[in-house]
Amino acid sequence: MAQLRLTLLAMSLLILSPAMDGGGGGTVQAQIVPAVISFGDSTVDVGNNNYLPGAVFKANYVPYGVNFGSRRKPTGRFSDGKIVTDITAETLGFESYAPPYLSPQAKGDNLLLGANFASAASSYHDDTAAMYDAITLTQQLKYYKEYQSKLAALIGQKNATAILSDALYIVSTGTGDFIQNYYHNASLSSRYNVNSYCDLLISIFSGFANELYRLGARRIGVTSLPPLGCLPATIRLYGKGRSGCVERLNGDAETFNNKLNITVEALAKKHSDLKIAIFDIYTPLQNMSESPASQGFLEARKTCCQTGTRKTRVYLCNPATAGLCRNASDFVYFDGVHPSEAANLVIAESTISAGISLVT
Ligand SMILES: *[C@@H]1O[C@H](CO)[C@@H](O)[C@H](O)[C@H]1NC(C)=O
Ligand SMILES: *[C@@H]1O[C@H](CO)[C@@H](O)[C@H](O)[C@H]1NC(C)=O
Ligand SMILES: *[C@@H]1O[C@H](CO)[C@@H](O)[C@H](O)[C@H]1NC(C)=O
Ligand SMILES: *[C@@H]1O[C@H](CO)[C@@H](O)[C@H](O)[C@H]1NC(C)=O
Ligand SMILES: *[C@@H]1O[C@H](CO)[C@@H](O)[C@H](O)[C@H]1NC(C)=O
Repeated sequence: MAQLRLTLLAMSLLILSPAMDGGGGGTVQAQIVPAVISFGDSTVDVGNNNYLPGAVFKANYVPYGVNFGSRRKPTGRFSDGKIVTDITAETLGFESYAPPYLSPQAKGDNLLLGANFASAASSYHDDTAAMYDAITLTQQLKYYKEYQSKLAALIGQKNATAILSDALYIVSTGTGDFIQNYYHNASLSSRYNVNSYCDLLISIFSGFANELYRLGARRIGVTSLPPLGCLPATIRLYGKGRSGCVERLNGDAETFNNKLNITVEALAKKHSDLKIAIFDIYTPLQNMSESPASQGFLEARKTCCQTGTRKTRVYLCNPATAGLCRNASDFVYFDGVHPSEAANLVIAESTISAGISLVT
């Protein structure tokens, strides 16, 4: 159902979009934007953490990837199959995805597809990422500058600048700042209440977006926070034994998302040639979590894979058991925090319809 609606969305996008001149590679491409450039956490990581020996969160083992394309192997994506940005890239006409920036594949013509700097357990606040040996947002921006130079060396400065200003930039992070840090960090929660902690994170986002703009970005999509209190892991950790969504945590996500809305509007006002939009993942995921059947799912509380018991492992599939449900498409959540590919299709519908304003 979600797949069909996405196909229709892709068709309407193609009709809406102006004819492309083929970008920098010299070949005529059918893509609506020349490149997709992603920053953030496990929601957009396509395998960078596999190249970080110390990273706490990796998805490089079965059952991750069991439904990923035709290879059906773990890639480092935190789902059974495609993540939202894969689906977005496909809808925009890409036949392949930008490889993880740290992988040996991120070179030559592959750089023309864009770049992916995301790292599971990354965050707005660099301290959170550092606690889990993930790539901080500050470091992701450094890699982006390095990518700019590599692209210029490959196709010339002028062509590189054109790709970089037409590219779609995706920023997707922030969940870790709450569930991997704030909620169990007494020193942090004594210094900040939720409101001022959100302000801190939002100011980091705002600085990051301004810096991306200064470096040439002109189309930026930022994801909202998901319903933090509906993730199976947070229900288990903070739900006091009940199975419903933890309303307090959802309220925190809404506080953040309202501030994000105001900030994004301000950024758009400040930079008249910047297209910027919020990719709302909260609404579809909250909907699927509260009424799974309305979107064709059977289960929104149990996870498809068997998760672990130790602190960090309640979030992820248990590598020791590789226990798996019969049909991941029936489950909203694949592991303790990450949606299944089927749920990602529903989320992508929402993000892509918001993204139309960015790419046309
Ligand atoms: C820049 O792009 C143009 C048009 O696609 C192409 O003809 C030219 O070779 C490119 N320049 C370099 C240095 O690759
Ligand atoms: C608490 O948060 C601060 C700031 O984010 C961080 O530097 C520190 O390592 C955290 N401490 C614990 C015990 O998680
Ligand atoms: C902010 O929220 C208002 C009211 O819901 C909405 O109309 C507007 O599109 C939102 N702005 C962004 C940038 O998402
Ligand atoms: C979810 O969306 C469906 C269809 O749009 C709607 O019927 C349902 O009431 C929504 N559920 C919640 C909990 O928002
Ligand atoms: C898995 O579930 C989906 C959605 O309920 C259904 O369309 C599909 O046929 C199922 N596949 C198998 C192999 O049972």
